[in-house]
Amino acid sequence: MKVAVFSTKPYDRDHLEQANQGRHEFVYHEVALKPNSALLAQDCQAVCCFVNDQLDAPVLEQLAKQGVKLIALRCAGFNQVDLDRARALGLTLARVPEYSPHAIAEHTLGLILMLNRQLHRAYHRVRENDYSLNGLLGFDLAGKTLAVIGTGKIGRIFADIMLGIGCRVVAYDPYPNQTLVDRGVEYLSLEQIWPQADIISLHCPLTPDNHHMINKQALAQMKTGVMLINTGRGGLIDTRAVVVGLKSQKIGYLGLDVYEEEGDLFFEDHSNQLLQDDVFARLITFPNVVITGHQAFFTREALSAIAETTLANITHFEQGEMDRVCSID
Ligand code: NAI
Repeated sequence: MKVAVFSTKPYDRDHLEQANQGRHEFVYHEVALKPNSALLAQDCQAVCCFVNDQLDAPVLEQLAKQGVKLIALRCAGFNQVDLDRARALGLTLARVPEYSPHAIAEHTLGLILMLNRQLHRAYHRVRENDYSLNGLLGFDLAGKTLAVIGTGKIGRIFADIMLGIGCRVVAYDPYPNQTLVDRGVEYLSLEQIWPQADIISLHCPLTPDNHHMINKQALAQMKTGVMLINTGRGGLIDTRAVVVGLKSQKIGYLGLDVYEEEGDLFFEDHSNQLLQDDVFARLITFPNVVITGHQAFFTREALSAIAETTLANITHFEQGEMDRVCSID
């Protein structure tokens, strides 16, 4: 099958080639899928996309018109896809539901430790021959209340890690997990969680219902000095409200791996350009904010698993084994 692969980096190509072994014809494009790049999928029966490729109605319509039948996402989340339009056009949507939930859960812990123990500042101090500790005071994680919002594959592993550290773990998920309850996790409503949690970490998908779930009203109910961590999706947080919360010191620490306007920023080197996003520019001025550029998934194990599942999805689709395609339904 001929597949146009968008938003490709050298590491994607390496892992896809290794999994493919010449079976399918992959046409690699560095550019993201957008209205002006959809033509690159001419003559292809499938497109292979990543988190910030544009899969809205106009792009889907153009792809369908060109003969594309399969959209194989190299990610778990699919908030970037207009699902209704894709279904109406008869497009099959495949994704990688699980690659390495450990990768994201472990990165989340990394953000928490970095913020709490000010590792980003300590690293620079020592390199400047400055060994003073002023301003680096942290707190014990053990005994603190940590909230996991979304206890699916990633949230479950993260909850386990934090139980191991000795946190009191509370959680919110419309579908509570009994194994976590048995291990001591308490499921609460969001209204109960906000005033209790010292650390809040988001691990749910972005849906129309939970867009900006962290907003002015939610922040008002939280503890002063709360630590917020988002490795889920940028749109879960109203970034402007969070900037206000950081300025007033309501928010004590902010760790982000995702950002609601990340599409034009992340995964690229913009170091020779001026930053045009004023909200993001303000965010990175705070010493108690650590941002990584959607790298939580980025481990060797995850890249191999993404490539293998993507290949399997394409091959099963080609062979008409639809029950073996990890489709979005
Ligand atoms: P999953 O589908 O296994 O679990 C998601 C959980 O969230 C489910 O238990 C679901 O019931 C729950 N949920 C749904 N709506 C909710 C809401 N409004 N509030 C609380 N919980 C809700 O998904 P998985 O694999 O754990 O991934 C979670 C999210 O993490 C993905 O949707 C994606 O957005 C993000 N992600 C981020 C990555 C990164 O590199 N930063 C990489 C992979 C995923």
